[in-house]
Amino acid sequence: MKQPRHLAIIMDGNGRWAKMRLLPRIQGHRRGVETLRGVVRAVREKGIASLSVFAFSSENWHRPKDEVEALLKVFVAALGKEARPLAEAGIRLHLVGDRSAFSEELVRAMQRAEEETAEASAMHLNVCVNYGGRWDIANAARQAAAAGLEATPENIERFLCMPWSGPVDLMIRTGGEQRISNFILWQAAYAELWFSDKLWPDFGPDDIDEALDWFAGRERRFGKTSEQVRGESTSAPGAQHA
Ligand code: IPE
Ligand code: IPE
Ligand code: MG
Repeated sequence: MKQPRHLAIIMDGNGRWAKMRLLPRIQGHRRGVETLRGVVRAVREKGIASLSVFAFSSENWHRPKDEVEALLKVFVAALGKEARPLAEAGIRLHLVGDRSAFSEELVRAMQRAEEETAEASAMHLNVCVNYGGRWDIANAARQAAAAGLEATPENIERFLCMPWSGPVDLMIRTGGEQRISNFILWQAAYAELWFSDKLWPDFGPDDIDEALDWFAGRERRFGKTSEQVRGESTSAPGAQHA
């Protein structure tokens, strides 16, 4: 079965999951971490090389202060608890995003968690925190310019976050919304998009299977015609490029 090499997930719906149960939103985020644990294992078992998840967007700072603080606390607790089991499962953790807004303590906790999994090589897990797709691109363009390079797509791409994971093949969003919300933009230029109405805490390995089955049936054309992709030659003479 044709599988994505890089799967990205926008984990949305924690707040609504909690609200439906008359619980504080943070309970939804806690359940969200548990869902993520199961999904990471399921993706690892599929042999997918990279999984990127959106944990906190650069826009999420606009939420009420107590939710932001509680979210970061849940994040720190998860880092401390999950790093070793991830390493044991062969999963290398990368925390991707702008760290300049975080406390020294949080930055150190992030470094420790990354170091603990640094030897793992079965799968890359990119947890995107204070990440924004536009930030990633602007940052890369700035670095390319500082290196004296012309702003070509190739030169910008060299400086993007997560070069180890390559282009996103499949992007999943839960929670019923059909938007990208400034998640991975450049690397997802040709991603297949799959949306689920399930709220993130209700999502699970079976839903991953469903998304992967759907992905396997997609014909990825990358600008070509269907006939070209299927190897039926229809190329006109003199129109060769690839
Ligand atoms: C996604 O769930 C998790 C984060 C953004 C951190 P939400 O908190 O956005 O849940 P809804 O969309 O309000 O239900
Ligand atoms: C996207 O979800 C960010 C994360 C999942 C971390 P949001 O819930 O913040 O997205 P919008 O604001 O509804 O587009
Ligand atoms: Mg949301």
